[in-house]
Amino acid sequence: MTWSPTSWKQKPATQQVGYGDAAALARVVDEMGRLPPLVTSWEIEQLRGELGRAAHGDAFVLQGGDCAESFDDCRSEPIAAKLKILLQMSLVLVHGTRKPVVRIGRIAGQYAKPRSADVETRGDVTLPAYRGDIINKDGFTAEEREPDPTLMLRAYERAGLTLNFIRALTDGGFADLHHPEYWDVSFATGTARAQYEAIVSSIRESLDFVSAITGVESEVLRRVDVYTSHEALALPYEQAQTRRVPRRDGWYNLSTHFPWIGMRTAQLDGAHVEFHRGIRNPLGIKIGPAMSIDWLIGLLDVLDPDRLPGRITLIHRMGATGVQEKLPPLIEAVQRTGRTLLWVCDPMHGNTETTPQGIKTRRFDKIVDELEQSFALHTRMGSRLGGVHVELTGEDVTECIGGARGLAEIDLERAYKSRVDPRLNYEQALEMAMRISRHLRGGA
Ligand code: PEP
Ligand code: CO
Repeated sequence: MTWSPTSWKQKPATQQVGYGDAAALARVVDEMGRLPPLVTSWEIEQLRGELGRAAHGDAFVLQGGDCAESFDDCRSEPIAAKLKILLQMSLVLVHGTRKPVVRIGRIAGQYAKPRSADVETRGDVTLPAYRGDIINKDGFTAEEREPDPTLMLRAYERAGLTLNFIRALTDGGFADLHHPEYWDVSFATGTARAQYEAIVSSIRESLDFVSAITGVESEVLRRVDVYTSHEALALPYEQAQTRRVPRRDGWYNLSTHFPWIGMRTAQLDGAHVEFHRGIRNPLGIKIGPAMSIDWLIGLLDVLDPDRLPGRITLIHRMGATGVQEKLPPLIEAVQRTGRTLLWVCDPMHGNTETTPQGIKTRRFDKIVDELEQSFALHTRMGSRLGGVHVELTGEDVTECIGGARGLAEIDLERAYKSRVDPRLNYEQALEMAMRISRHLRGGA
């Protein structure tokens, strides 16, 4: 079948909604197709190059952000806080790995959520499930749960506003190590804070030394690249921003640098795989315990027939109890193909549990455990774990259990804000970066 930005429509699409008003949907897609892109093809190609280097062990990837962004959180504080924790974690990782860190936010487009049930029942009322702010609203009325295509335009605009703010911050000195207010960890406590401060001051000293002997205040010290990513789930939205660009071959999805295919929509003959095979962006593929060898190899053949460096990132999320059994056969199968791919561990989605009170949570210890097992497994098999993918927020929420402050089940009610999956809070995220960093330097 010949690919086009709309050829996915010929294939079965899971996790999609029916829009009552087809003409309204068409108007939205048409309007989004005429608006300027959110990212550019050369940024996308640059990221693909960096992911290719990470696949060879010459860089490390940090991908993180909300499970789902909400339109309400498109405000300066949460965006700046998220950027800040990503930059701080990346600094710790640079220190640990002695390698460039590729920073990718789950941001500026992470508005659509796959759901395990199409409907939600409360008492004797059953309504369509909430599928993220790009599709419907989370209030429990028939009107709010009705899919509304104009929400895609609102999502595009919010993504644009978010990205504009991130670009302004990162270009304008937010990442400058000499601005202590951006690097402080005021609400972290204990040993993590002391270790972090030691790392920052040692890096700052090295940089000052270099600029003293070269006389150059390097630009490199002032700005950093932050890329965007989201699960490319709502296909009309992705299609609308997919276009050709001057002087390059092929089609680019210019709604994000790095789209990924979620576990629930990775069917080989499905619409999501059809859509992604035709775009030139680097692609993430989430792989969970249900992924088989044939399925995975099939995905690689369809999505990366030319074996382009940096094209595919496999993001495994097996859970701390499943990773030993599930991951090695897949690593081996990829090794047999002779491909060098980037492997990233998502230690969040395989470790979700529900407390007796019905609250969705994750245990920090299990998250770290899956990560450490994954590093060890890759090393043992002559493969390489080149990055982590985490759900986090820059705020002081209480959604995951454990970490330095020893959050317990009882604390979850205090500041549980996520509408979907539980995220690491600021302090837990920083602690995770420390643990990875220590691990990579050969420490405990
Ligand atoms: C997610 O990343 O929020 C998600 C739904 O992941 P997965 O597809 O791995 O379940
Ligand atoms: Co999630």
